[in-house]
Amino acid sequence: MNNPKWLNDAVIYNIYPQSFYDTNGDGIGDLKGICEKLDYIQEMGFTAIWLNPIYESPFKDAGYDVADFYKVAPRYGTNEDFRILCEEAKKRDIKVIMDLVAGHTSTECEWFKKSALPQKNEYSNRYIWTDSVWNTGDGRKFISGWSDRDGCYMTNFFYCQPALNYGYKQVTAPWQLPMDHPDCMAMRQELLNIMDYWCDLGANGFRVDMASSLVKEDPDGEGIREIWSDLKTRFRAKHPDGVLIAEWSFPKDAIAAGFDIDFMIHFGTKAYTTLFRYEKGTNQSEAWIGNSYFRAEGKGDIQEFLDIYLEHYNEVKGKGYIAIPTGNHDMQRVSMGRDMTDLKIAYTFLLTMPGVPFVYYGDEIGMQYIKGLPSKEGGFNRTGARTPMQWNQGKNKGFSTGDELYLPVDASADAPTVAEQEADPNSLLNYVKKLIEVRKATPDLCADGEFEVVSAGYPFVYRRGNVLVIVNPKDEAVKVPAANAKECLIGVNAGLCGETVTISGKGAAVIILG
Ligand code: GLC
Repeated sequence: MNNPKWLNDAVIYNIYPQSFYDTNGDGIGDLKGICEKLDYIQEMGFTAIWLNPIYESPFKDAGYDVADFYKVAPRYGTNEDFRILCEEAKKRDIKVIMDLVAGHTSTECEWFKKSALPQKNEYSNRYIWTDSVWNTGDGRKFISGWSDRDGCYMTNFFYCQPALNYGYKQVTAPWQLPMDHPDCMAMRQELLNIMDYWCDLGANGFRVDMASSLVKEDPDGEGIREIWSDLKTRFRAKHPDGVLIAEWSFPKDAIAAGFDIDFMIHFGTKAYTTLFRYEKGTNQSEAWIGNSYFRAEGKGDIQEFLDIYLEHYNEVKGKGYIAIPTGNHDMQRVSMGRDMTDLKIAYTFLLTMPGVPFVYYGDEIGMQYIKGLPSKEGGFNRTGARTPMQWNQGKNKGFSTGDELYLPVDASADAPTVAEQEADPNSLLNYVKKLIEVRKATPDLCADGEFEVVSAGYPFVYRRGNVLVIVNPKDEAVKVPAANAKECLIGVNAGLCGETVTISGKGAAVIILG
């Protein structure tokens, strides 16, 4: 295993910078704000933070449309603020992970503006263009008539996100470049330069946006594996502890390509949706949660998750990690349709699984997905998961002193806050804090520890080495035998009596065995 050692007991906090903490009253979170909250992050036990993009951008896709990869967006602060953030984080033993939008830029990026010129120049091949404005490409999304350049450009996501050119694995048209074309190799080098630049300022790694999207016409994935193993080798030679995390959502492929971690999220496989938002036969984008496993109704099927999970886990074991996050900026929050007890049970599972856990800001207090918000910066139905962090009962829930906010704070009477939950020993926040503490103090529960299913159903029982974990989302009492049980490290509605664990309804328990 050549993954950085610090990943073994890592628990990563995902911060959407717009909405975390605003120190200058402009209604948008900033880097100084993240810096001021590092003590909170450290007290919670998080060992690293991953920041959604902070680069200069016109924000048509919340910063995933980068205009300048070498500059922090003024609304978040300066490159110097980033350096200070890394320095302060380091003092607290917290690593800083940036978002690397490797597959595309904004149409506002200088590279693209030059690429769109009719005259041939250094950037003409930085993006994928067809050879005539009437040639609309190879079936992917192409935009025609953007500029006087006689060609159409390929988009990678929204129209304003032109695809960077890393080449085609199989070239079938004259305007397609092979991967080893000097201009594609130059793009590859640029990506390394970007990574070096931010690591020199103190970053410890990258979450790579749409990591599988770089190479076109690559049916068996040979091209994308070639690129990432090359990039990783060169990246690690300079930054031996630097981590590479994929947004791929197909861990077998991402780890084979050289990534240290890949997410299992709401696309790629059904694993995540079966846990948290699945309704068989319905449109999953509606985010129905009816038959998901983590629901008190108990209508889910953990075996459906395990079939997919184990296939990936068995393949990546010893080579890299799977991350099942509590949520992220692209999906409805996990709290939708779940109460605080349901969340404690779900988090017991997420924080005791192998691999690397990620907690999306606000999920530690059970922040809600706000339905029906107008789209902000290309958020569309994702907008409701991006609202300001709720720190206390002050103005704007302590997020900002401003009068106009990036997005409204949750106005509901029972909106949870950090301050209230810190003061309540039974709060979700204190439960998450304890779970993180237990995980980090118990090597068997860390990323590399063994994983073995004991029984799959309600309850779901599994072993992590010498630790037995029981999760019972269904609101029905259960008794579970636990030979050689020594102590219950943490639990919800759970009791240990001799060698039997009793769960009095929906609940969970983490038991250390003798
Ligand atoms: C990723 C990001 C998402 C963004 C898209 C395009 O999926 O997580 O927020 O819109 O890539 O960059």
